[in-house]
Amino acid sequence: MTSAALKEQPEPSIEPAKLLAQPLSVGSVVYRNRALLAPMSGVSDVPFRRAAWRAGAGMVVSEMVASEALVTGHVEMQMKAEGAGLPVHVVQLAGRQAEWMDHAARIAEANGADVIDINMGCPARRVTQGYSGSALMRDLDHALTLIHAVVKAVKVPVTLKMRLGWDHDTINAPELAKRAEDAGIQLLTVHGRTRCQFYKGAADWSAVRQVKQATSLPMLVNGDIANLQNAKDALIASGADGIMIGRASYGQPDLPGRIISEAQNVVPHDSYDIVEHYVDMIDFYGEALGTKCSRKHIGWWMERQTFNIEAKLKMEMMTASASSKVIVHLEALQAQAQAILRSSRNAA
Ligand SMILES: Cc1cc2nc3c(=O)[nH]c(=O)nc-3n(C[C@H](O)[C@H](O)[C@H](O)COP(=O)(O)O)c2cc1C
Repeated sequence: MTSAALKEQPEPSIEPAKLLAQPLSVGSVVYRNRALLAPMSGVSDVPFRRAAWRAGAGMVVSEMVASEALVTGHVEMQMKAEGAGLPVHVVQLAGRQAEWMDHAARIAEANGADVIDINMGCPARRVTQGYSGSALMRDLDHALTLIHAVVKAVKVPVTLKMRLGWDHDTINAPELAKRAEDAGIQLLTVHGRTRCQFYKGAADWSAVRQVKQATSLPMLVNGDIANLQNAKDALIASGADGIMIGRASYGQPDLPGRIISEAQNVVPHDSYDIVEHYVDMIDFYGEALGTKCSRKHIGWWMERQTFNIEAKLKMEMMTASASSKVIVHLEALQAQAQAILRSSRNAA
């Protein structure tokens, strides 16, 4: 967004950097600050969420959990809904049938969820073809039956994540937000794109403002936020109460926490420890699955390093099937990364 466009926005009542560091109440639950980690299937599993939480994220959301599969006992869905070690555990449910959503919400709550989030934003064809995710924005009456079912099923707060609408001709997020508020939803997250945009173009943070104006609910703005400046711009443009960060956290789950530290002008209290994250993935998934699931995280982390990592070493780490080997290399690489960080902090 250009500075001219930003100037046209009404002044927020509180400076965005200060706002970010404040707690946010969602019904009876308090998020400790307003820079949150987004739900991301295949990424925000429980080790990733624990890493983000340790580094100071205000709150973290599970990967989307398919309601029917959770109810019918799929182990994969049970693992996605896992929240051990997270003081605030948010489980995101996806589905298209009220019965499954109702039942899945009860299971998640019984297993310790502090908040249930409903997915009405996922654009993936395999999800929308089943009329779940953002396809629900094409039929708000049906979407509301799911919201009613979940709100009625549980005592914990229920929140809703959506896009602006299905396409540019059907921007209905403000209407959905209003109806969701009436149905008992307690927080909204809005990704500033339509479903048909998938991830193309830029997120339209100012279009998210219409959603904020339609309700009195707290609202998070989401889409293309990768640093403190983006976070401030998104808050000003949208009038939102907080931010949610997705893809920019690849290889750096500490990003939400670092944005908060930067907003407060303090040194981050606990920087990201890739070795700790890796060991957590191996513990959670076991050696065989863990060494596979961890590869993308190691790859992203290596891409973010400013020092040279030999292609041969990278390849070895990305193909290793023994975690002990990977840990030795990761420890050495992390020592280099930490030395660089220390000297840049000393120089500052
Ligand atoms: C790999 C991937 C998986 C995602 N999975 C989910 C999901 O399970 N539930 C959901 O609501 N959104 C999901 N999203 C959307 C993100 O939560 C977020 O809305 C989107 O990426 C825009 O934010 P960003 O620009 O900060 O990434 C996913 C996005 C990505 C890239």
